[in-house]
Amino acid sequence: MSQSNKRHLITVTNPKSPISESYRSLRTNVDFSSIDESMQVIMVTSAGPGEGKSTTIANLAVTYAQMDRSVVLVDADMRKPTEHHTFGVSNRFGLSSVLSQQASLEDVIQKTNVPNLSVITAGPIPPNPAEMVASRRMTALIGELRNRYDVVLIDTPPLLAVTDAQIVATKSDGVLLVIDYGKVKRDIAIKAKANLDKVGARVLGVVMNNVKRKSSEAYYYYYYGTADSK
Ligand SMILES: Nc1ncnc2c1ncn2[C@@H]1O[C@H](COP(=O)(O)OP(=O)(O)OP(=O)(O)O)[C@@H](O)[C@H]1O
Ligand SMILES: [Mg+2]
Repeated sequence: MSQSNKRHLITVTNPKSPISESYRSLRTNVDFSSIDESMQVIMVTSAGPGEGKSTTIANLAVTYAQMDRSVVLVDADMRKPTEHHTFGVSNRFGLSSVLSQQASLEDVIQKTNVPNLSVITAGPIPPNPAEMVASRRMTALIGELRNRYDVVLIDTPPLLAVTDAQIVATKSDGVLLVIDYGKVKRDIAIKAKANLDKVGARVLGVVMNNVKRKSSEAYYYYYYGTADSK
């Protein structure tokens, strides 16, 4: 990450760009990934660190909000949280505060500059994030957000490092697996997918990040696959 903590969201600053368009097609793919079950609570994860999870889910949140859905983005990466930087909001209270009963849900839902998009930041880093996301209070919180928002999007830590993402997967309708195409070896990606399968997660698809196009520096998102395809 660069010196500054400020992160810019391409879907906000340049919604007409091809990259923003690819986030919109990711959104469309998520919406069409299941005919019978509603895909309301979606989380993102990856095998390892720095593959683009937080960037992906933040831009996906913006594209949902841009089509007039009410959206809440929950930063459930209570180990290396970043969404408060992305949206320029305070992280004094957040998810960890609600789960440890230091704050109410109302206290931690923050509006962003993007219409229709609210965020619940991670809050102060707790000693026991895995236990926190496994709690019944976390299940209840997600249930409450289902009642209040059209779409609930959840950022999580890497799969192969800690169990948090696997636990959140059991409470989500669908999972997006981000893979840094330039970095992650095939067997690692397969292991990550297996970890999700183990807990019965519904993997909606894989987001290939950092796929080099013809021009050497360009990053591009490419989405493929629907439920059960690899
Ligand atoms: N497609 C992309 N193009 C350009 N930069 C990107 C892209 N995806 C991610 N980045 C940059 O790579 C860095 C890591 O991305 P991000 O924070 O989204 O990853 P992460 O998987 O959430 O990391 P962590 O495991 O630390 O939570 C950030 O600085 C982000 O701006
Ligand atoms: Mg992250």
